[in-house]
Amino acid sequence: MYVVSQLVKETIPNYLAGLPIPDSIGGWFRLGVRDWLALIPPTAVIGGVSYYSYLTIKKARENGTVNPSIRKDIPKVVDFVDIEDITEKASFCRCWRSKNWPYCDGAHGQHNKDTGDNVGPIVVRHKEKK
Ligand code: FES
Repeated sequence: MYVVSQLVKETIPNYLAGLPIPDSIGGWFRLGVRDWLALIPPTAVIGGVSYYSYLTIKKARENGTVNPSIRKDIPKVVDFVDIEDITEKASFCRCWRSKNWPYCDGAHGQHNKDTGDNVGPIVVRHKEKK
C-alpha cells in the first residue's frame, strides 16, 4: 500500500510538475524539441486511456441492444412501406447502422468488417421483375 501511496501522492505529481507545459498559448510555440519529446509519453497515456474509455463506454451503451442510434427517443421503431411504392426492388436495413433507415445504405459492410458479423439487407422485389 505504501508504494501506491507514494506513487499517487509524490511520484506522479512530481512528474507532472516537471513537464514543460507553458502558462500561455504563445508558450506552446516557444517549446523546444526536448520539451515536445518530454510531452509525448503523458500525451500517449492520456490519449490511450481516453480512447480505451471511449470504446468501453461505446460498447457498454450498445451492449445488449441491436439498435445503436436509430430513433432512440421512441420506445419502438416501426416502419411501414407500401409494396405498391416499391418500383423494382428495395433493400431494407437489418444491421441498424444505415443513415438512410429503413433502407440499406451499405453501412453493414463496415459493421461486418468491425465486428466480424455477417449481416446484410433484406431485398424486396417484384417476382415478375427479377
Ligand atoms: S446498411 Fe444495414 S443492412 Fe445494409
